[in-house]
Amino acid sequence: MSKLTGSKKATQFTESVIREMTRLNQLHGGVNLSQGFPDFPAPAAIKDAACAAIQADVNQYAVTWGARPLREAIAREFSRRHGVPVIADEQVTVCCGATEAMMSTMMAIIDPGDEVVIFEPFYENYGPDAILSGATPRYVTLREPDWTFDPDELAAAFNNRTKAIIINTPNNPTGKVFTRDELETIAALCRKWDAIAIADEIYEHIIYDGQRHIPIATIEGMADRTITMNGLSKTYSVTGWRVGWTISPPSLTGAIRKVHDFLTVGAAAPLQEAGAVALGVPDEYYTKLAADYQRRRDVLLDILERHAFTVYKPGGAYYIMTDISAFLTGPGPQTPGLADDMDFARFLVKEIGVAAVPGSSFYKTAGGGRTKLRFCFCKRDETLAEADRRMERLVPAGVQVH
Ligand SMILES: Cc1ncc(COP(=O)(O)O)c(C=O)c1O
Repeated sequence: MSKLTGSKKATQFTESVIREMTRLNQLHGGVNLSQGFPDFPAPAAIKDAACAAIQADVNQYAVTWGARPLREAIAREFSRRHGVPVIADEQVTVCCGATEAMMSTMMAIIDPGDEVVIFEPFYENYGPDAILSGATPRYVTLREPDWTFDPDELAAAFNNRTKAIIINTPNNPTGKVFTRDELETIAALCRKWDAIAIADEIYEHIIYDGQRHIPIATIEGMADRTITMNGLSKTYSVTGWRVGWTISPPSLTGAIRKVHDFLTVGAAAPLQEAGAVALGVPDEYYTKLAADYQRRRDVLLDILERHAFTVYKPGGAYYIMTDISAFLTGPGPQTPGLADDMDFARFLVKEIGVAAVPGSSFYKTAGGGRTKLRFCFCKRDETLAEADRRMERLVPAGVQVH
């Protein structure tokens, strides 16, 4: 057999469906409500800080685990907000986005045979993260409409081989914000089975309806067994800068830093300087960020409901999960042969001109997400209005057009 093939690991997962949708969208000149990046400017002060850092010749490698001003800002802000002491030198590792933070973390803690518990639907990177690090994923279902989990199902997913559980709150794709009770349940299992909590809190500041973000590291006994990850991407609208980080117990930091060093050496040095400035913005910035996104959420909820989607109102993050059964069942005039989410997503981008993400890309279980579609609303009002206008041509299956 030819050796000119990809590795077994690389053939176990497919290309990112989200990025495929973005490409299809470019091809068809659509409105891109698939990949979660803002189409509005980043804050001027943060961009100025990046330009100033380049002009000041911060152009060489930063310390591999992160420039001191950024690491100290990360530690300071986590302690100030959540009351958990963090020592920058012992606990913070700056990476190329939360994406690399997650991969470095998984590769740093996983041995062959280790299991990782993942809530399903999940952010699509967690599947390949598990495969590439050699972890065996154990999926636990979040059930709509509230995306709650069954505590017995969760308990049954833990055993002696469980090394970690990934908790993403506020959650992509569902918008779920884990409650204190739910986090207590997870924490009790982590303590019982000596497992690590990997907390992806990249949407920490994008949270609605007066709710508060609760890091699992703040639950009793969890600071010592939680690796928290976050980044600049979502909070400061700079997804292309690729700056993220982990906050880990000192006992795990060395392993994460080693993997990170040999994967990427480090994140862009001038953008780390700008990151330190970003983390110093006044609290009103975050209040306004959440309020602006809540307004956009309500705009997109209204658009989708008017166009016959069943919507699940998100409590955080900037996505809306929908049910598209209305478009799949029965022979509709505009929807011939639309059997599932993939068919519908392709139809939506090619024929209607709106890109969204097929639900199945957030599920591993066969058939999961077949009737779901995720839209993002980190977009300008004009962009959302244009999607609204285009979706006027969308007709649910079985409805006659006169
Ligand atoms: C849950 C979640 N984690 C991580 C990321 C990636 O973050 P970064 O841009 O910092 O790599 C995303 C981006 O969509 C996300 O939704």
